[in-house]
Amino acid sequence: MTASSAGLADIGSANDDPEPAIVLDRHLTVSDRSTALATDVRTGLTSTPKELPPKWFYDATGSMLFDAITRLPEYYPTRTERAVLAEYAHEIAAMSRADTLVELGSGTSTKTRLLLDALRDDGHLRGFVPFDVDETMLSRAATAIRDDYPRVTVRAVVGDFERHLDLLPTADRRLIAFLGGTIGNLGPRPRHEFLTGLRTQLNDGDTLLIGTDLVKDPVRLVAAYNDSAGVTAAFNRNVLSVINHELDADFNPRGFAHVAHWDADNSWIEMRLRSVHEQRVRIGALDLSVSFAKDEQMRTEISTKFTRDGLADEFAAAGLTMVRWWTDPAGDFALSLSVPA
Ligand code: SAH
Ligand code: AVI
Repeated sequence: MTASSAGLADIGSANDDPEPAIVLDRHLTVSDRSTALATDVRTGLTSTPKELPPKWFYDATGSMLFDAITRLPEYYPTRTERAVLAEYAHEIAAMSRADTLVELGSGTSTKTRLLLDALRDDGHLRGFVPFDVDETMLSRAATAIRDDYPRVTVRAVVGDFERHLDLLPTADRRLIAFLGGTIGNLGPRPRHEFLTGLRTQLNDGDTLLIGTDLVKDPVRLVAAYNDSAGVTAAFNRNVLSVINHELDADFNPRGFAHVAHWDADNSWIEMRLRSVHEQRVRIGALDLSVSFAKDEQMRTEISTKFTRDGLADEFAAAGLTMVRWWTDPAGDFALSLSVPA
């Protein structure tokens, strides 16, 4: 271990490995994670209606299930965003001229390679900072990028982008990327807080690249969140397994059915778990028992679908100016580049 104290760990390989070790900043330690999960689960399961935040889908299994979702025929966002990146990554790199790519909610960092390649070709790239709540996928992705981009310093951060943005590593010029449409998993108020918090962290020269899914035919939207192979259903139920493992609970995931609902008023897909019969669940670590009525629905995720004007207004309200907007030809998914106003 080269790194020293509480928040730092070295996930590099054996000493005779000539590759530089990856530094991993751990802002969400195992104990912080379990305290935060406990707080969210107690609050969410004692509210009416019950609700769980989507960040807790992502343990090692949840991240793998999301990765499987990205390859489903019904789930168009990932391949569409990849196509937009493939077309415009060099333009993005030329506009940002960044030496460091920071990726929030980085997951497998697969599409990110298009940005890394373009930034490398642009000639300034020195560092990559993947940032994610799931340490397992983060470590794997960071190691793979380190292996494939040996001249780039990789500094991985385990953290919650709703809590730890003030701890992001600094650099001369950063491109902060938030891909996949994950910003849409935040509700309007948390999204405003996220954007204003991020704005305060941006220095002159930093740029912000955000991927957003766009409003479209609800039939396509619902299909994307209710695939025929049942992968999204398994992903949705995984939050119950996370609570079972991490908080000593006894949810029977099969006692809950996956629901994907388009809420046109709020312009978001809502994922829910419906209790298929009356049941009582014990969460041992919280010393809490919770009852579910038959057909009671618990919200587990919102996935907001945006318009260009709506997004530009949200950025402006957070002190950001959208300077560029790219989409696929069908207008399904957008990337936008913003700078401090
Ligand atoms: N950016 C990738 C992954 C999207 S999935 C893509 O475009 O395919 C969402 C990712 O965000 C997951 O890896 C999940 O672990 C991470 N995530 C979700 N909530 C988070 C939070 N509050 N803080 C940090 N990471 C979070
Ligand atoms: C990560 N996030 C943008 C995904 C989405 O589409 O909202 C999560 C997801 N939920 C169900 N399928 C995918």
